[in-house]
Amino acid sequence: MTEPRHDWWRDAVTYQVYIRSFADGTGDGVGDIAGIRSRLPYLRDLGVDAVWVTPWYPSPMNDGGYDVADFRDISPEFGTLAGADALIRDAHAAGLRVLLDIVPNHTSHRHAWFAAALASAPGSRERARYIFRPGVGADGLLPPNDWLSVFGGPAWTRVTERDGSPGEWYLHLFDTTQPDLNWSDRDVHEEFLDVLRFWFDRGVDGFRIDVAHGLVKQTGLPDLGYEDEHLLEPPRIEDHPFWDRDGVHDIYREWREVADAYDPARVFVAEAWVDAPDRLADYVRGDELHTAFNFDYLRAPWSEPELRATIDSTVQSIGVVGAPTTWVLSNHDVERHVTRYGRKVTSALVGVDRAADAGPVDVALGLRRARAAALLTLALPGGAYVYQGEELGLHEVLDLPESALRDPIWKRSRHTLRGRDGCRVPLPWTTRGPSYGFGVGRCWLPQPPGWGALSVQAERDDPGSMLELYRTALRMRRELPALGDGRLRWLSDPGSDVLAFAREPEFACAVNMGPTPVDLPDHSRVLLSSVPLADGLLPTDAAVWLAT
Ligand code: NOJ
Repeated sequence: MTEPRHDWWRDAVTYQVYIRSFADGTGDGVGDIAGIRSRLPYLRDLGVDAVWVTPWYPSPMNDGGYDVADFRDISPEFGTLAGADALIRDAHAAGLRVLLDIVPNHTSHRHAWFAAALASAPGSRERARYIFRPGVGADGLLPPNDWLSVFGGPAWTRVTERDGSPGEWYLHLFDTTQPDLNWSDRDVHEEFLDVLRFWFDRGVDGFRIDVAHGLVKQTGLPDLGYEDEHLLEPPRIEDHPFWDRDGVHDIYREWREVADAYDPARVFVAEAWVDAPDRLADYVRGDELHTAFNFDYLRAPWSEPELRATIDSTVQSIGVVGAPTTWVLSNHDVERHVTRYGRKVTSALVGVDRAADAGPVDVALGLRRARAAALLTLALPGGAYVYQGEELGLHEVLDLPESALRDPIWKRSRHTLRGRDGCRVPLPWTTRGPSYGFGVGRCWLPQPPGWGALSVQAERDDPGSMLELYRTALRMRRELPALGDGRLRWLSDPGSDVLAFAREPEFACAVNMGPTPVDLPDHSRVLLSSVPLADGLLPTDAAVWLAT
């Protein structure tokens, strides 16, 4: 009899590589495949299970590669297909799975399909793959509806027809250079099924699905009726005309069949910003995707009642469909959590949210909380994500010069939102050197002075460093049977300022979010703590792992 195969993705810790900023192996100032390959030993020693690489396809890079010109190749900036194959092979040899990023909501305007659409007439087969519509009003001067781009400005751009006349408009929920695909068109379905197979055949273990909640638009494209759409905002109304429409689930059922046809089966994680945990649970039903990022957790403030409520609602709703929960604190789209947790409003998404309170930052406080958050995250049931640099305790770089900003949000918000570059600053690997070991000198985004103090070299083997906290926690997580997939049982009462829970067998985690030190739950031994305990008490903004 064969043993039932353990589904690795149910409790994997996946490390997000934002390829431009991870490691530059070719010396041109931009991170690349060679850089990732050279750092695989680092990732293996860190103790993660999988690596998710953000888009590496040919692209004009108007949105950091999320504007894909060819889904079956590699941008020369990042390497070659042969290099990608070698990376997949090396990662597997190091015991790491590889997830890629697939971007099915839109292509780049440089994609061959869009070029063909522009060269073809209104009503043509080529235009049907995108969402072209005539404008409204006299001479079609106004966009077809009131939808706004999540990066700011209208979601429609007018084209000039081949004869030079002002023509149709095309939809782009993101930048003008990211035309939305039409998922009512069968060509689009077939194309993406083929792209999945292309990469699965090369040994890729799965995909992170970009804007997984956005692919299906309401028939007739009705007006939205309100104005302030912005990145990362879950839909505020039911039956939203472009977010989280029920039709997306049919797409993922098709994708699941493709993934299941492989041995071992390939997996998916959804990037879906939805407004309720039970809506998220729909994406991870048994015949759809495997996991979905838990953005409620990322957006929760550093406060016991809110975090507890988020944990409960996540575990409950995701549990109903039998999928594992995931926990995520940071990614390339949000302010790094060291900075977020150092603000007065700890849930604010400064940089992308107009309403966010951009008050002062206490980095030391943010760092202390981030250490506690790491232990909380890695003790919760299910899988977890680590965004590159969070294991070093990197903070948001808030003072990038305006001339360096690359995020389309900066331009499209008419320079009112600085966007997401501050969390994408190239990693420091060494204490000194022109780019702190990221490459040989140049860097596509400037690193701040002092970045070297947060480098891998500075933190490795320093028992008080963030890196050593992550390494120890990840090692223990592998060793302790209680951690990973499973259940939790609360030990603390709601409203007590303390999040304390048990995992079986014989494990407890406690986090103190209140103003004074508290007693530890019953235990036989302290396994790990985010700061030294004070006279056997758990200090404020600290977490502890216990053997019970
Ligand atoms: C979500 C990605 O994470 C973000 O970086 C990108 O700008 C948008 N999707 C558009 O693809």
